[in-house]
Amino acid sequence: MELFDVYSLFDVTPKRAKGCKVWDSEGNEYLDLYGGHAVISVGHSHPKYVQAIKDQVEKIGFYSNSVQNPLQQSLAHKLGEVCGYPDYSLFLDNSGAESNENALKLASFHTGKDRVLAFRKSFHGRTSGAVAVTDNPGIVSPYNACHKVTFADLGDAAAVENALRSGDYAAVIIEGIQGCGGINIPSEEFMQELRSLCSKYGVCLILDEVQSGYGRTGKFFAHQWYGIKADIITMGKGIANGFPCGGVLISPEIAPKKGMLGTTFGGNHLAMAAANAVIDIINEENMVQNALEVGEYLKNSIPASPRIKEVRGKGLMIGIEFNEPVAEIRKKLLFEKHIFTGVSGQYMVRLLAPLCLTKADVDVFIKSLKEIL
Ligand SMILES: Cc1ncc(COP(=O)(O)O)c(C=O)c1O
Repeated sequence: MELFDVYSLFDVTPKRAKGCKVWDSEGNEYLDLYGGHAVISVGHSHPKYVQAIKDQVEKIGFYSNSVQNPLQQSLAHKLGEVCGYPDYSLFLDNSGAESNENALKLASFHTGKDRVLAFRKSFHGRTSGAVAVTDNPGIVSPYNACHKVTFADLGDAAAVENALRSGDYAAVIIEGIQGCGGINIPSEEFMQELRSLCSKYGVCLILDEVQSGYGRTGKFFAHQWYGIKADIITMGKGIANGFPCGGVLISPEIAPKKGMLGTTFGGNHLAMAAANAVIDIINEENMVQNALEVGEYLKNSIPASPRIKEVRGKGLMIGIEFNEPVAEIRKKLLFEKHIFTGVSGQYMVRLLAPLCLTKADVDVFIKSLKEIL
């Protein structure tokens, strides 16, 4: 049997990794500025993380959500304290798309409405509702397109109000910072207006922090840069440093009912061992602060060049927009300089390094980038 061929692959086979370094099957060392697509938060194979998973699997790896699992409460408690939402509750699932799917469903249950407002250049995942609120017709099948969704331009508060005024909307969904759409940072003024419009019209504000959350931007959630609170916050990627896990933070205004949400694997013992270790490491090693400081250093170190149009981002969520397609530059970074990077569209190199990146790592990248330019 062959694999279903949907991914464009680089010809590299990672075999082991540590911190911000990856080694391939031939023993070559790479600097990881991509974190396997923003997933590696506390660094590859952090000893405390490895030990937590090993210890857990020796005791119990999985049981269903029909029994007590104190590891879930432990994570909820720690997360509530560190993220600034101690009065919210946590629903655990398995991925970013599933978190958004659950968030949309919750908003619809809560309001009794079925329409959602999303933004152009958004990405929220591949499952039915999540892909319907994603602004990329190429990945939306006719089956997904039946959801009731309206798209507005990021920053267009008048368009948002025009839509919400109809009274048909369950939710507005927005990324803390748009990732796949090109590191687009909404203005503080717009986000504050969006918050008050959602409150005014009784619509749930869902903040998708799957990529921009968990400390990546130098605050726990990117939307905390704008001084607002969300009704529902979705998480994934860095929450368990590569062990599949997602989560939804839910306002106390939204009441749970038995059976309202559910999942077989969500919150399982192994995922919880991983996620508890991640939150402990983030706290003990001040990784949110490190993301802020090293991210600023990285942004400020990028050389001025006629080939570079703009550098934008916060913390370790950074886009370098070029005046030319970046495919060749990325290939050179990977195969000549042994540096993993990400991409957004054709013109942007996207950097999503582990939160433990050091200034010395940044210097290696900057030297290589200068040589390539
Ligand atoms: C902002 C955002 N939301 C949701 C998702 C989907 O997450 P997953 O691939 O874990 O389903 C992604 C993935 O890239 C994302 O960047």
